[in-house]
Amino acid sequence: MTVPQLTDVHPAWLPPEAFRAIGSRQVLVLGEGALVETVREEVAAATAGHGGGQAGAGPAGCVLALSGADGLPEPARAVAAEAGPTGAEGYALARRDGVTVVVADAPAGLLYGLFHLVRLGETAFAPGDRPVERHAPATARRMLDHWDNIAVHPVMGQVERGYAGGSLFWRDGELREDLTRVRAYARLLAAAGINAVAINNVNVHATEARLLTDRLGEVAAIAAELRPYGIRAHVSVGFASPVVLGGLPTADPLDEEVRRWWAAAADRVYAAVPDFGGFVVKADSEGQPGPFAYGRSHADGAAVLAAALAPHGGVVHWRAFVYNHRQDWRDRSTDRARAACDHFAPLDGRFADNVILQVKHGPMDFQPREPVSPVIAAMPATKLAVELQVTQEYTGQQRHVCYLAPMWSELLAFRPWGEEGRAVADVAVHGGGLVAVSNAGDDPYWTGHPLAQANLYAFGRLAWDPRLDPAAILDEWADLTFPGTADELRGTLHAIMDGSWRTYERYTAPLGVGFMVRPGHHYGPDVDGYEYTPWGTYHFADRDGVGVDRTRATGTGFTGQYPRPWADVYESLERCPDELLLFFHHVPYGHVLRSGSTVIQHIYDTHFAGVEEVSAMRAHWDKLDGSGLVDPAYHARVAELLAEQQRSAEEWRDQVNTYFFRKSGVPDARGRRIH
Ligand code: GCU
Repeated sequence: MTVPQLTDVHPAWLPPEAFRAIGSRQVLVLGEGALVETVREEVAAATAGHGGGQAGAGPAGCVLALSGADGLPEPARAVAAEAGPTGAEGYALARRDGVTVVVADAPAGLLYGLFHLVRLGETAFAPGDRPVERHAPATARRMLDHWDNIAVHPVMGQVERGYAGGSLFWRDGELREDLTRVRAYARLLAAAGINAVAINNVNVHATEARLLTDRLGEVAAIAAELRPYGIRAHVSVGFASPVVLGGLPTADPLDEEVRRWWAAAADRVYAAVPDFGGFVVKADSEGQPGPFAYGRSHADGAAVLAAALAPHGGVVHWRAFVYNHRQDWRDRSTDRARAACDHFAPLDGRFADNVILQVKHGPMDFQPREPVSPVIAAMPATKLAVELQVTQEYTGQQRHVCYLAPMWSELLAFRPWGEEGRAVADVAVHGGGLVAVSNAGDDPYWTGHPLAQANLYAFGRLAWDPRLDPAAILDEWADLTFPGTADELRGTLHAIMDGSWRTYERYTAPLGVGFMVRPGHHYGPDVDGYEYTPWGTYHFADRDGVGVDRTRATGTGFTGQYPRPWADVYESLERCPDELLLFFHHVPYGHVLRSGSTVIQHIYDTHFAGVEEVSAMRAHWDKLDGSGLVDPAYHARVAELLAEQQRSAEEWRDQVNTYFFRKSGVPDARGRRIH
């Protein structure tokens, strides 16, 4: 294993400079195992670059050791004894007698401990003792889903909803010859705390289906690059694989032949990739095949895959994103928001032990503002993973700055059962963990918008510890990404990024209305773009009012899918939070919000404010021009994107304001120009 060094790609949060503190010391690494070798290589690369060395017999300034290693020097032994067991991925960190120590019971913990030292920089070596801190991830599975295709899809491109270039794994329909960048990606992910990656799109097309058969070697090759950084590979599979790949007449999960086919497929995969993670399945969703075709439930469907993986220790991530995408807009009784709960809640307790039900965080589809999905509270006897979208499909497509950690943090802290109950994070942490759709591609900055790197970093950190503060994560990211200048940059980055999600919400979607986007690619405004389509995404604006009545009293009854108190809060016009009002209620434009503003005036005010906030973001960034604090190419790329964000925000403002002015006939109370 060698530490990947790429010269033509931005180093993101692991520039060589970030390793200065550890790299300038004499470091002793003790222990055996593949991931300990990775730690050794990392330390060797860091010390080679910064003048330190690998301590042999001489005194070490830093010890990274497995607690059970032979020859553990005194400070490490004492720290290990005081820390007690650290678990499979945890570690303890301390400073004693002039030596900074990381000890872990298992190699993965040592790797995470190393990256913790990198985050701390010189602080880890500050004079004096540092008391023993124990660190361990909140949840065992911290996963990214790639929506990568092998071949370029005629409509979706290579990476579905990808805004950062092509796939890191495949090019021109083939596995990339040089996978160094995949290893560099794994390294970045490990430094953020990620330990699982599903490598291909949940919509499994014909070529990608073959990752289970004649293209399995590609899975093995990618897994080999992820492994040195403690990341397991998972693969998205099509439910109809026994038919499509195996030539069987059916994919009925209760059919004996089908069972045998899946078992043999799993055996083959594990023969090639012994630490394979498992399968991800999008079934009966947006045209993907599933168990409904055979009159079977999703529990039955998942069971056949789970049984195949169980002997090998693998898991099935079964997605709960099931709804009718061929709805008739005239049918007011069907509510897409209800679908996941209607389908899955009755199956609670019926999923096999190694099935993780992967639930999108909101009931619709990654809109800038949605309530938390009621499924999260409805299935106490099922392992649930909460799925987030790091790729910015509905949040500016990596052309807009939209720092998503505040949104994720808010939803992870939400308590579906009320103040006394558990939070969403608790459900995920004690269930199937956190999963997110990746935003990375072969773009030189990894994420298209350079500042979107912060979202990838923040997802990993929140998956490791959902209680982390988004602003503190931003500091960490900035310190790592801009070593040497972070102190001076921090204020600007906070000014631009901290509130950027709310800014995005202001100039796009008011009060919980979603999907006012251009159909298909979803970039830019089109208020009625989805209004008469089969996708179940309507706002019902007319001359009198706007919003979806999802109450039990007069609407679709969706509010009833929540436990109390939220079932009552959302049901009530008076108590429903403003930011979700139009998600739950259809109201007249003159309805007075809890804020004191009317709905129509709120729409106008937020759209004007949102654009002004974008102008302010730009002004902050412009001030850095020529300051030497950021690399000129980096500065230029962000500046160019901010100009597009400004253009787009103005377009949103003008279309949304004009639309609602024309519908309602209500002028802006402040007399601003509405077209
Ligand atoms: C969204 C997205 C699709 C994706 C789907 C999913 O609808 O637009 O591209 O396939 O989510 O999560 O499965």
